[in-house]
Amino acid sequence: MANIAETAAGCRVLLDGARATGRTVGLVPTMGALHDGHVSLLERARAECEVVAVSIFVNPLQFGDPEDIEKYPRTMERDLDVCARAGVDVVFAPAVTEMYPSWPAAVATSVSVTGVSEGWEGASRPGHFDGVATVVAKLFSIAGPCRAYFGEKDFQQLAVVRRMVADLSLPVEVVGCPTVREADGLALSSRNGRLSSEQREAAVALSRALAAGRAAAGDGVLTGAGLTEVMRRVVEEEPQVHLDYAVAVDADDLIEVAGTVDPSSVRLLIAARVGPVRLIDNCAAAPAGVLYRRHARQLERIG
Ligand code: PAJ
Repeated sequence: MANIAETAAGCRVLLDGARATGRTVGLVPTMGALHDGHVSLLERARAECEVVAVSIFVNPLQFGDPEDIEKYPRTMERDLDVCARAGVDVVFAPAVTEMYPSWPAAVATSVSVTGVSEGWEGASRPGHFDGVATVVAKLFSIAGPCRAYFGEKDFQQLAVVRRMVADLSLPVEVVGCPTVREADGLALSSRNGRLSSEQREAAVALSRALAAGRAAAGDGVLTGAGLTEVMRRVVEEEPQVHLDYAVAVDADDLIEVAGTVDPSSVRLLIAARVGPVRLIDNCAAAPAGVLYRRHARQLERIG
């Protein structure tokens, strides 16, 4: 069973001991409702770090609509079991007022990453990435991890965190981990549980569109506009899926590449609404590296 800390001071005490004895601390920030995607991060941290800490905190700063916070699934007991099975040492599960003592009054100090956080998810969810950057900076400050683990599933979030860590010279290595998918290709997400069975079937159009985009890049469709068109056509076959964007972007700064694409440095991003739920997914435009190739094969099976 992991040690549970509900206060920042308590979390620090538990992890200071580890650092004082020279042990590496890995942090996995989450909002709970843990699924196999989260578990893959826990396992990676467990394999690479001597002490593993997980934060479970539904961060109100990153939600635009207060209703969304209320609807967010909370499964603390189950999450603690998942953490215990994954060999997590410390769970940090603070209350909102522990993280933001002035809450619900505005937080005076926040972290804002310009550029990379402005398009795509940032454009549809104003303030979202400020909320993410602020809470992640606080979690880094509280836990003092050597490494922190984030999913490629939220590719823009990963890019925002990397940018923040570089710009603020934070002493933490950010590790990006591959997306875990259902057998048919749908990326695991706590939001999938809000889909009806018909919507759940339709939702596979996102990963199918990405697979088609990547295949088209392999077949020589080498403009961003061309790849967007390929992805759009796949989504259009599925009337229940309403496309927000399907784009080819530079994998570092996430700026759209409309013209000639070098697949090795390009990421395909997609976002769509299915019934009441907004889903996002992404993949590299070209296979790169062993982990990605495994993921690419998974996509190809359904492509
Ligand atoms: P949450 O949605 O709980 O996700 C926690 C971590 O799990 C993120 O790094 C996310 O990218 C990763 N993840 C989610 N689904 C995944 C999947 N199918 N495969 C692999 N990794 C997956 O993202 C957040 O929480 C918050 O924004 C947070 C970073 C905790 C800040 O509040």
